[in-house]
Amino acid sequence: MNIIERPRRLRQSAALRDLVRETSLHINDIVLPVFVTDGVNVDQEVPTFPLVRTVSIDNLARLLDHRVRRGLRAVLLFGKVRAANKTESGDAALDPDGCVPRAVRQLRELYPNLTVFTDVALDPYTTHGHDGIVHNGDVDNDLSVDILSRMALVHAEAGAHMVAPSDMMDGRVGALRSTLDTAGFHNVGIMSYTAKYASALYGPFRDVLESTPSFGDKKTYQMDPANIREAERECRLDLDEGADIILVKPATWYLDVVARLSEISDRPVAAYHVSGEAAMILSAAHAGHINRHRAVEEVTLAIKRAGASIIISYFVDDIFDILAT
Ligand code: PBG
Repeated sequence: MNIIERPRRLRQSAALRDLVRETSLHINDIVLPVFVTDGVNVDQEVPTFPLVRTVSIDNLARLLDHRVRRGLRAVLLFGKVRAANKTESGDAALDPDGCVPRAVRQLRELYPNLTVFTDVALDPYTTHGHDGIVHNGDVDNDLSVDILSRMALVHAEAGAHMVAPSDMMDGRVGALRSTLDTAGFHNVGIMSYTAKYASALYGPFRDVLESTPSFGDKKTYQMDPANIREAERECRLDLDEGADIILVKPATWYLDVVARLSEISDRPVAAYHVSGEAAMILSAAHAGHINRHRAVEEVTLAIKRAGASIIISYFVDDIFDILAT
């Protein structure tokens, strides 16, 4: 046979395959979502999402010591407040002694080399579960941006390295940037949820935070899954407003968006492999349809190959194991 090109030549051994590998996983690229709550000695699992434990501040070390020892470099903090402490306007989000600011202070003290991101949105703190202030039956953009800016400032004052607005209000990146700069926090970065879609894949996360919207849905602020041009527009706006990292969420059904934004952004692109995506892998593995480690390796690699240099993942333990073999 006269075959000129033989791509199989480069697949002959593991060493050769590794040599020509175009993308690889690295623990430096992974950010672990961490859920903190008030109270003491809380370490709670939610049956619908066993990858996550909600802990009180005193249990952060138990949750993270071994992971930091294995190389974890970054966490993204979410606060969980009791139903009794939720209000219409999410006041607990602005409490400098709330669970997130306290967790930030604790993490900065415990792990000097860990990068601490905080989620900025009101949904864990509001009675209605929406990301901002509800006015006349819809989330009011400008009222919400004002509160979210104050929330970001509370996190910066506690020592967060980066704030991550996940609310999808218009103009919030610029507003957060100017609030942070005015207060002297020039070096606190913004990882913006630039293209966050109104997705069916957030269920397990909402179970953890008990934040399922009590009415309506999030389609007046999160994006329509049908759109990519709109993601380009959000990206242009976020870059103009000063975002340091551009985030796409969910990840795997939106790899075209990850790829597109990584072409047009001159700043790093992150992708959030969200709770529903993780839960599907867990369920399929549990049913014996797929191998969990192999699936996690493949999906995480795929997100990276599409162009995300940062991956928010619940599978950090699996990734440690995969990298160790
Ligand atoms: C809301 C928020 C959500 C997630 C992160 N921030 C859910 C939502 O928009 O209702 C989902 C993350 C996940 O599913 O893992 N600010």
